[in-house]
Order: sequence, then structure tokens, then C-alpha cells
Amino acid sequence: MDQLIQFSYLLASVSFILGLKFLSSPETAPRGMLLSQGGMFIAVVATLLNYGVVSYGMILSGVIIGAALGAVMATKIKMTDMPQMVALLNGFGGLASALVGAAEFFRSQSNLTAYPMITIALTILIGMVTLTGSLVAFAKLQELMKGAPIIFPFQHGLNFLFFISTLALIGYLAFMPAATPAFWALVAISSLLGILVVIPIGGGDMPVVISLLNSYSGMAAAASGFILNNNVLIISGSLVGSAGIILSQLMCKAMNRSLTNVLFGGFGQVTAAPKTPPVSAGSDGGSKPAVPEAAPEVRSGTPQEAAEFFKKAKSVIIVPGYGMAVAQAQHTVKDLAERLEKQGTEVRYAIHPVAGRMPGHMNVLLAEANVPYDKLIDMDEINDDFEDTDVSLVIGANDVVNPGADTDPESPIYGMPILHVDRSKLVMVLKRSMKPGFAGIENELFYKPNTMMIFGDAKGTVEQMAEALK
Ligand code: TAP
Repeated sequence: MDQLIQFSYLLASVSFILGLKFLSSPETAPRGMLLSQGGMFIAVVATLLNYGVVSYGMILSGVIIGAALGAVMATKIKMTDMPQMVALLNGFGGLASALVGAAEFFRSQSNLTAYPMITIALTILIGMVTLTGSLVAFAKLQELMKGAPIIFPFQHGLNFLFFISTLALIGYLAFMPAATPAFWALVAISSLLGILVVIPIGGGDMPVVISLLNSYSGMAAAASGFILNNNVLIISGSLVGSAGIILSQLMCKAMNRSLTNVLFGGFGQVTAAPKTPPVSAGSDGGSKPAVPEAAPEVRSGTPQEAAEFFKKAKSVIIVPGYGMAVAQAQHTVKDLAERLEKQGTEVRYAIHPVAGRMPGHMNVLLAEANVPYDKLIDMDEINDDFEDTDVSLVIGANDVVNPGADTDPESPIYGMPILHVDRSKLVMVLKRSMKPGFAGIENELFYKPNTMMIFGDAKGTVEQMAEALK
């Protein structure tokens, strides 16, 4: 039986690795998902065949409760709330691993030697940091607490002190596994450390934090695999851990940051309050900001006026952002693009790596609307083309098109690569108000002479544009 279980684990591990490989392209991604799900099914069944299983009744109750909760979450959560859900699920992963560690500690405390004790203690450390860090990330994304960095004097010093204390406790427990108070101290300090590590991170850095916590949850699972002596848990945990680190690095690269800068630099700190001017009614019936002294005029237009420009445009680049997800405008955007293509206009989509609220958010939405993959162009490949583009149509994007990232050293997003829509002949920005985006900062793009703001819900605006093009 043990050989059958180990063989099944091998099969499951191969499915996970191939599944990940298939996930690297949108065409093969559904196959990758199926393969990984199949692998997980095999791994679960093989684990249940283990002679060590004490109570199938308990496991079944867990499966029923967990599946019911998961089904409710998956159906109820809106696509725009997905990052919060991912943060929460990362946290649960960390908690599950920490519980495995705690159970093993209390079960075999009297015979624990140094090696298993160190493994248990590491599981507790990573698991609890993942749990509390993820809860803070969830609270920030859900706006239950303020998203801006929370910074206080000697913060990094305190974090370092806590980290050293956890290492000291792990060392102590390795020699004195019977020291239950030291175990609880480790749980408490690890939990505090998770909170303290995530609170100073804010603004545009959340994507990095989420993928980093995802990586931690994988490492915690791998550590619990060592405790349980379970190969598939070690392999799958390591895969999640390394995939999460790679994704974190990709996110850092997309934002032109180093991981240390994100974790220790307090990046994302909003240094100035948004200078958004108050909005008053414009002559065109749309809303128009009451422009402060020396601030340039904001030009606003209607979808019908925009359609007139489209009729003359030879090239259009659509730049989707979080607002397109909120408005669920992807299908109408595709209709508009088809109308433009019918009249002979070249239409492409520019994809910023951190547009929206999760990696690949825009790709997923546009794939759902059956936009062909070859029309989605990554930032690095399309950025030089804006200069020769007649119209850039920005749909609910804000931070990822903010020229302040290039020009304003005071800006919290200074240095983050952006899509250079401001270089195109005309920029149309679709949003509901002059409010800032995720990073909470003003966008000078809205005041540029070649920018036309079209206020309103993106879906309705795009529908009206398409209608006017008929
Ligand atoms: P944001 O900067 O968040 O801007 C979105 C804009 O959409 C807002 O200014 C909002 O303006 C507008 N909007 C919202 N609902 C709308 C609707 N129904 N119709 C029309 N417009 C609507 O988005 P972005 O440019 O995509 O940038 C993403 C930001 O999120 C970055 O700062 C990034 O670092 C951060 N982030 C990204 C991720 C990942 S992995 N992608 C994860 C977490 C955080 P109004 O309110 O005026 O309409």
C-alpha cells in the first residue's frame, strides 16, 4: 500500500509541475488547471488510503464544512474582491500549517528531539506570520483599515528584534521541547511579526505583498510536510513557495522596486494629500472640476463627441484598468473594438502588469469577453507605439497611466513604469469622477491638453460610444 501511495504522490507532483507549465500561456491555462486539479484529487485520495488515518468521520465532516464554505465564497465573491479572497486563503493556508505544527508539538512533546522540534517551530513561525500578515493585507484591501503605510519610529529595529527573538526561541525549544511557555511565546511573537511586517506596506505595493504571503503559505505547507513526513505536501508546498517568490520578483520588476525596498523601504507612503479640485457642472452637461489657481483646465467631453474622433482614428490603443473590472465593461469594450475594426481602425490593448487588483486581472477579463490573445500587448512591447497612436482609450485605469511616476520624485509611485498614453495624439479617460486610484494620488494626465475626460460608469460610456459609431 505504501508503494501505491508514494507512486500516487509522484503522479500528483508531476501533474502539479506540468499544470504550472501549462499555466504560462492563456491558451493552455485551462488544461493546466484541469491537470493540477486531477493531481490534487489523486493526492487527497492517496492520503486517505494511509493506514495512519484515525477517523474518516472527522475528515468527512471537515470536507463537508470546508467544501460548503469554499462553494459559498467562490460563488458570492465578486471578481473585483478576488485579491482579498486570495489574501484570506493564503492566511488560512498558514493557519492550517501552524495547526499541524501545534498538534504535533502537543502530541509528541515528551519524545521530541531537536530536528523535529526545529521543523515544528519553523512551521509555527512561517504559518503564524502568514496568517496575521494576510489578515492585515485582507483588511487593507477590504478597506477595513487604511491602505496607507503605518509607520512609527524604530519600526524596522523592532521587527528585527522580534525576528531575532523568534530565532532564539526556536533554538531554546530545540534543546528544551518541554518548555510549553516558550512555544506559546513563539506563537505570540510570530503573530505580532506578521502584523508588523505588513502594516508599513501600502499604496501600490500590495500586489507584491500578496504574492509574497502566497509564497510564505507554500513554505509553511512544505514545513508541515516535513513534520508529517508527507512527500506530496513537501513538493506542492515548495512549488507554491517558489512560484510565489518568482511572482513577487516579477511584480517588483513591474514596479521597478527591489524586494528589500518593498519590505523595508516604506514604499507606497502617500507623502501629500490628493490635490483633487472640487467638481462643478460643465457646460457640456458633464461634470468639470473647479480649477484651482495656476492649475490647467480639465477638458471633458461626451461619448458622442468621442465617437467623432474615433471615426477619424486610424489607430486606437485601449488601456484597461481596475475601473473596467468594477464596471464589468469588458464585453461592451469588445463590441466597441469590433465596430472600430469594421471601419478600418487598428485596435490593440495595452496591458500593464499591475493593472487591476491581481496579476493577470485584465487578461482574465478580456479573455472572458473572447478578445483574441494576440491583441493584448504587454507594456514593454507597446510603450513605444503610443507616440504614433491617434487615440488612447483609458478605461478605468489611473495609477498605471500616471505620468507622475516618471516626472515627480515626490510621488509615492515614482519609478514605477507606466503606460505612456500621454504621448498619443488624443487620450480619452473614462472614469466617474476626479478621484484618485488605488495609490491615492492625483494624476496629472487628467490636466494635459491632449486629454479628454469622459465622466460616467465605464460600461455605459462605452455603450454610448459604440452606439454613436453605428
Ligand atoms: P486604479 O489606479 O485603482 O484606478 C482605477 C480607476 O477606475 C479609479 O480612478 C476609478 O475612478 C475608476 N473606476 C472605478 N470604477 C469605475 C467605473 N464603474 N467606471 C469607470 N471608472 C471606474 O487602477 P489601475 O490603474 O488599474 O491601477 C492598479 C492599482 O492597484 C495600482 O496602484 C496597483 O499597484 C494596485 N494593485 C494592483 C494589484 C495587482 S496584482 N494588479 C493588486 C493590488 C493593488 P472613479 O472612482 O473616479 O471612477
